[in-house]
Amino acid sequence: MADYVYIFDTTLRDGEQSPGCSMNVREKLQVARMLDELGVDVIEAGFPAASDGDFESVKAVGDLGLKATICGLSRTRHGDIEAVARSLDTAKKKRLHIFIATSPIHREFKLKMSKQQIIDEMCGAMEFGRQWFDDIEVTAEDAGRTEIDYLTEYFQAAIDAGARVLNVPDTVGYVTPSESRQLYQHLTDNLRHDGSVILSCHNHNDLGLAVANALGAIEGGARQVECTVNGIGERAGNCSLEEVVMALRTRHDRYGLHTGIDTTRLYPASRVVTAVTGSRVQPNKAIVGRNAFAHEAGIHQDGVLKHAETYEIMKPEDVGVPENSLVLGKHSGRHAFSNRLETLGFSVDKETMEDLFIRFKALADRKKSVYDEDIEALVLGTESSGPWHLDAISIHTEVEETGQSAEASLKLRFNGQAPRIYTGRGDGPVNAIVNAIRAILDQELHLEEFHVSAVSSGSDAQGRATVRATIGASRYKGSGVSTDIVEASAQAMVNVMNRHHQHQGKDVNAPRVAAAV
Ligand code: KIV
Ligand code: ZN
Repeated sequence: MADYVYIFDTTLRDGEQSPGCSMNVREKLQVARMLDELGVDVIEAGFPAASDGDFESVKAVGDLGLKATICGLSRTRHGDIEAVARSLDTAKKKRLHIFIATSPIHREFKLKMSKQQIIDEMCGAMEFGRQWFDDIEVTAEDAGRTEIDYLTEYFQAAIDAGARVLNVPDTVGYVTPSESRQLYQHLTDNLRHDGSVILSCHNHNDLGLAVANALGAIEGGARQVECTVNGIGERAGNCSLEEVVMALRTRHDRYGLHTGIDTTRLYPASRVVTAVTGSRVQPNKAIVGRNAFAHEAGIHQDGVLKHAETYEIMKPEDVGVPENSLVLGKHSGRHAFSNRLETLGFSVDKETMEDLFIRFKALADRKKSVYDEDIEALVLGTESSGPWHLDAISIHTEVEETGQSAEASLKLRFNGQAPRIYTGRGDGPVNAIVNAIRAILDQELHLEEFHVSAVSSGSDAQGRATVRATIGASRYKGSGVSTDIVEASAQAMVNVMNRHHQHQGKDVNAPRVAAAV
């Protein structure tokens, strides 16, 4: 369909690579379900060869039986390709995504390979991958800085070797919108194929041009856009899914194209990714920012009241911004709770729903009003998946002449074994908790950031503790939510330990693999 633009979401792969955005398997599954509801065509679930954890999460996404095609990233190495094949063996629709760099700077300094060697390497990988995959996407990493004639030759070889999708990433966010259009126009005009091959754009936002460059690419013939929810991704991020989708929809008069996205799920999708990653969007972020539909100037307010289109090119309801925030309480029933979960973009199975409802009731007993943020925290924020589990915490503080001293006792279980008490002392409760955790780890732990904020409004609000810590050479984030902020802090530190545990064993030589944070 020439007027259809495929949406390839890489929130779980390229998005997850951005500092502070790493996700555990449970969180990835939430995001994957949400993406499927949103209507994306392809979900890039990860880079299975990067680590056992990445392999398991790609496999878990493949096992969900979603409508979308599930894609795994791979270098040209046979081991990487086998890892994608094994991780996606149960996926209903699957895609292998092979990449190798093509630009002069990568050829000379990173790969130390000639142009022809790179083409041969890619064709060899294609041949190997075709044992398992009919649907193969080939990427020329750093295409934006690759000589156009060589790029055309590389992609022609990929087509001849059976590639279905050709991805032309601007890996370093260097090109401008008109260059992007010209590049795709050149490929559209010069590549020979049977009409079934799709050109894909993948734009990074280093100059703030990712969405503009994606639109340029579409003007030049791209029919797949690689993007992430909230535009998360390496450095300045990737092309933002919600922005490019709404640009195509709002300016249908100009582009005449459509996507399969249910735009009323865009705002919930953004909230889910914010809640999972802890990375808030700026208030003035297009489409999903807090102020995206707020009219402050009197003259604008007057205009909007008289006729919304005077100052609004989209309606908040088009992107699923709720008209009001429904507050639940202890008298709210299952139906109201499950409706709210759905409105917030979560889809959970029956068993999880039951568990959440019990926890919702317990929370509603402790605090009068349960807000959307509390529900998001219930779904995502309180349970740390990993081997360590916090059963209980007790803190003893004394005010001594020399200052305050505190002792924290953490009752922790490792892999479901009998609980053990770990203690630490410090000049305050958080310091004592960190010292208790330090005693467990056999590596240096440095706490870089620690803050506590209220999840919602009211003096009975839950507190969310967020920490960023370095263990050895890796940085991790962790968060915990509780009505007791000391408990929330301990949960956040346990979360860090779990992420560290998961991260151990990653292939550190794998290029562009998500760092731990
Ligand atoms: O930015 C990039 O080049 C990538 C590829 C691996 C697709 O993320
Ligand atoms: Zn990228």
